[in-house]
Amino acid sequence: MAEVKQIPPAGEPATNGAGPRPKSAGQEAAEPRPASAAPAYQPRFAHIVGWGYHVPSKVITNHDLEQIVDTNDEWIRSRTGIAERHVAADPKETSVTLAVAAARKALEVADVPASKIDLIICSTTTPEYSFPATACLIQDALGAHNAGAFDLSAACSGFVYGLSMARGQILAGDAEYVLVIGTETLSRIVDWTDRETCILFGDGAGAVLVAASEVPGGILAVDLGSDGSGGDTLIVPAGGSAMPTSLETVSSGMHYIKMDGKAVFRFATRVMASATRKVLDRAGISTDEVDLVVPHQANIRIIQNSVLNQLKIPADKVFVNLERYGNTSTASIPIALCEAIEAGKLKPGYKVVFVGFGAGLTWAACVIDWRTPVEKQSTDWWKSTRRQATYGAAAARSMWKRAVRWVYDVLPTDPEAPARDDGKEKDKDRDKDKEPQETPIKEAVRSKEQG
Ligand code: ACO
Repeated sequence: MAEVKQIPPAGEPATNGAGPRPKSAGQEAAEPRPASAAPAYQPRFAHIVGWGYHVPSKVITNHDLEQIVDTNDEWIRSRTGIAERHVAADPKETSVTLAVAAARKALEVADVPASKIDLIICSTTTPEYSFPATACLIQDALGAHNAGAFDLSAACSGFVYGLSMARGQILAGDAEYVLVIGTETLSRIVDWTDRETCILFGDGAGAVLVAASEVPGGILAVDLGSDGSGGDTLIVPAGGSAMPTSLETVSSGMHYIKMDGKAVFRFATRVMASATRKVLDRAGISTDEVDLVVPHQANIRIIQNSVLNQLKIPADKVFVNLERYGNTSTASIPIALCEAIEAGKLKPGYKVVFVGFGAGLTWAACVIDWRTPVEKQSTDWWKSTRRQATYGAAAARSMWKRAVRWVYDVLPTDPEAPARDDGKEKDKDRDKDKEPQETPIKEAVRSKEQG
């Protein structure tokens, strides 16, 4: 992964003459302002300064799928453009492990330690758990002990939604560094007997570090949209509060992705074009001025019908890598961004569009005036050793905190108080002759039945 010459960190002068970055709140407190002077307004911009991706090593080709469902390589290639996808075959590979690997690469490219991150936004449709948030587990693994963390649910549009949130935090002055991650293990919620969906999806993660800067440019404009009336066209019906997991939901496969492919296709081709037009209008940029489009990698025909045919953006300005990854949902744009940089398709000064659509239904587009240098720098042995050491320290800190919690759990908080087991025994003695209590719900049902 490329290392970059950085947009200078907060307080240091910019090499391009754009002046120093806004100082952090702590720095401002240390330098008293003249009493009469009103706080000077310093414009802030949100730039992507680091990027990284990670995919599982196991590859499933279309020919492999021919052994599982009634399909064939020719059909999949011609209808979707997909040839193979990476799948988290090892149960130890999860949305968190993929995300952490991608995030570490992004931090390395940016040359920023995890301790400087103010906020982690993790977009995923395959979270590790309902709660805690996947973002919190990533925060712990990175040792980002100064960061807030939350998950964002906007399916394949989620990464661009995350960029929008990051930009908002930075422009408001609430954050200097925001880590935005898209991570998915869709193979865990795909029905491998359903040929209409299992051929489409893959696993992977992509991450970017968004930083505050006074250098003009960065994320210029964002357009976010949703249409919940189409929620049932792409849905995992069970496992939420509407249909809690039960033996029946599992045996009927309701915890897998259900999709009306044609409806999603029609929606996608419409919104990809309209969202791109809207965001370009907002940024005051014409389609001719766009240097690179990184679209959500769902289906080559969707990209052709929308970006190429409707927007008339030529194919050499549109980055596509879905042939090798399939649809990795929210991870697809950041993975494609990293590969576009590796392929030399992105240069400082370029106007870049990210555009995606997904379940919800949702859509999102943003336009970036890219300023961060992208040339690959040689790996600094000392820096990478130090970085690895901080991750080792993060793991040790996490274990230590768990151990402290365990100690607090087994020790009585008040040394004067009787040991907790005694209390439990007493409760048992007191309750043993009592009739079992009815829950309020059971009681209500019974009294209703009795009229
Ligand atoms: N192999 C072989 N034949 C197949 C397969 C398959 N894997 N899947 C479907 N077929 C058959 C169908 O049964 C149908 O047969 P029939 O004519 O005898 O009934 C025929 O192929 C044509 O099927 P269609 O559904 O018309 O195929 P279509 O051209 O619409 O392509 C596809 C289907 C690829 C799913 C397309 O509709 C699509 O890409 N939709 C968008 C899906 C998408 O992007 N979803 C992700 C959204 S992002 C997110 O949030 C996760």
